[in-house]
Amino acid sequence: MLSVSQILDKSVFQKDDLIYLLNSSGSERLKLFENAREVKSTFVGKKVFFRGLIEYSNYCKKNCYYCGIRAGNSRYARYRMTDAEVLEAVNYAFKNDYASIVIQSGEQTNKAFVSKIESLLKRIHRQTDGKIHVTLSLGEQSEDTYHRWLEAGAHRYLLRIEVSNPSLYLKLHPNNLSHDYHRRLDALKTLRKVGYQVGTGVMIGLPFQSVSDLADDLIFFREFDIDMAGMGPYIEHADTPLYKYRDSLMPLKSRFDLSLKMVAILRIMMKNINIAATTAMQTIDPQGREKALMVGANVIMPNLTPVKYRQDYLLYENKPCLDEEAEECKSCLEARIHIAGDTIGYGEWGDSKHFSQMSLKDSAEIPAALKK
Ligand code: 5AD
Ligand code: SF4
Ligand code: FES
Repeated sequence: MLSVSQILDKSVFQKDDLIYLLNSSGSERLKLFENAREVKSTFVGKKVFFRGLIEYSNYCKKNCYYCGIRAGNSRYARYRMTDAEVLEAVNYAFKNDYASIVIQSGEQTNKAFVSKIESLLKRIHRQTDGKIHVTLSLGEQSEDTYHRWLEAGAHRYLLRIEVSNPSLYLKLHPNNLSHDYHRRLDALKTLRKVGYQVGTGVMIGLPFQSVSDLADDLIFFREFDIDMAGMGPYIEHADTPLYKYRDSLMPLKSRFDLSLKMVAILRIMMKNINIAATTAMQTIDPQGREKALMVGANVIMPNLTPVKYRQDYLLYENKPCLDEEAEECKSCLEARIHIAGDTIGYGEWGDSKHFSQMSLKDSAEIPAALKK
């Protein structure tokens, strides 16, 4: 049996290696974290990028078994931010040099929604002179919609695969076309084809999920050659079907620890991608996001959603920052990043180096005569 150090020396991890790293403990676990920290500082530096998070709407047509804002949950008042509220949040991000925002929402695909996002993107572009980069996280859409939004000014797209194992996916979602694993995978491929920087991710510690599944998730990220990742622990929500399995889950602390290991291993595997220190990490451990930064994450999402809506965007329970205005989240995160020993990349887009290096590669293939 190899040790963690011997595994870390390999250039490509096999599935067994990943399982070993995910199960590591004591000094071996610390060695993993240390190695990830070094890789981060060598390949992406100590700069953390802010993505101002706008939770645009909690209307959702889907019924994922784990999520608090699923269509079937009538406990939340449904909201949609007004254009003025969105533009104000964008303006806050712009004035504070965030350089980048994420617009996230429950999944809606009707014409009015698609056009509304398109017009908001154009207004954001105008209002900020194209200086704010926009990431969308609006679920599965048609190729035409993805294309329209890219044309209107979006740059990146986050669509979590949630779990890369199709049979596990089936256990966590209703069995119908709008929750189909292959459709989701196709949506990810379409995003890539249309020209976005593509981010995906998984939840960690779900019912029926094994360490072997998590190893497969990491291999999925590598094979899909993703530009960005956002992963976090699964946190049960009382208003969801999966809640009945709460007693079979691993303890929250273990879910958190596995999430840290997933971040660390992914940083070592995919050295130049962007990895988020997700809010769900902080739900379990008050220092969760700092800890994620210390083992390889380099992106953080300060919440810009107006406080009056935050109670209604609870994908999971105990979500932090329910009462904190944008300003408070900003100073809170500045302090956290400082504690983690990093600095903030104010005024920088912080595009995935992975994506830009691929673009360089692509442009090298363009005949010299066409380059200028
Ligand atoms: N626990 C943790 N993460 C969740 N998400 C949805 N429900 C939960 C939950 N109960 C995540 C999903 C989704 C993202 C927006 O939030 O991964 O893609
Ligand atoms: Fe809707 Fe996304 Fe929640 Fe699924 S995870 S119910 S698509 S908001
Ligand atoms: Fe919102 Fe700390 S990040 S209060």
